[in-house]
Amino acid sequence: MKKYIELSNVYRTYKNGKLRNNVLNKVNLVINKGEIIVIIGPSGSGKTTLLNCISGLDKPTKGKIKVGKDIITRFDEKALTKFRRKKLGFIFQTYNLLENLNVKQNIEIGSKLVRNKVDINKIIEIVDLSKHITKNIDELSGGEQQRVSIARALAKKPEIMFCDEPTGALDEDTGKKILRALVDANNEYGTTMIIVTHNPGISKIGDRIIKMNSGSIIEDVNNKRVKPENIVWG
Ligand SMILES: Nc1ncnc2c1ncn2[C@@H]1O[C@H](COP(=O)(O)OP(=O)(O)OP(=O)(O)O)[C@@H](O)[C@H]1O
Ligand SMILES: [Mg+2]
Repeated sequence: MKKYIELSNVYRTYKNGKLRNNVLNKVNLVINKGEIIVIIGPSGSGKTTLLNCISGLDKPTKGKIKVGKDIITRFDEKALTKFRRKKLGFIFQTYNLLENLNVKQNIEIGSKLVRNKVDINKIIEIVDLSKHITKNIDELSGGEQQRVSIARALAKKPEIMFCDEPTGALDEDTGKKILRALVDANNEYGTTMIIVTHNPGISKIGDRIIKMNSGSIIEDVNNKRVKPENIVWG
């Protein structure tokens, strides 16, 4: 596999008076193109901060992050915004959908941000929303809304997809459908996926499981992917 994302000696430090808190503490990490990476670890261990640094939403205090040929830690705000718009997709726990547009219109907004047009209908199929395309957002369940937000992110055909607790608020059935959509997108488009979860079962869908504690990576193990349908939930 091809080396794609590389973090070298990354620190993210917050100062509180004279105290320094290393929320990321000398993180070194290589992620290959097309990998599904799952990040686990206790609350406050730095998972979201790590995601934010790789996606350029936050800046390391020290260290270097390379994505493809770009050293993004040298980018200014303008370059970072362009980088995010062109290459990244995000799924958060809250969906941030546009309430006055229907399902299809919400998804199309993703593809309008970029040049390389994707087949919207194909994406709607991947997230299994064909039956709902003309519905308004307030007519959907939480899981359906989360799938719209995945579809919207996928409509950009992002090179990297960041998923911070994508199934945190969902029941097992719905959660597994969401994970299926992510794995399908990875297979279809080769999207590199970085997924944060508190659910140890979910970690089994990945190629690698990375465990964080107190700002450091304390474990990084290879994993043979288990189908979302077959994982043990919870
Ligand atoms: N703006 C900030 N100022 C000071 N400390 C911060 C700030 N943002 C985050 N932190 C601290 O950084 C640490 C890591 O936060 P982070 O959000 O990365 O944790 P996490 O692993 O994602 O946790 P969770 O599982 O609860 O989402 C926490 O202790 C948090 O209090
Ligand atoms: Mg977090």
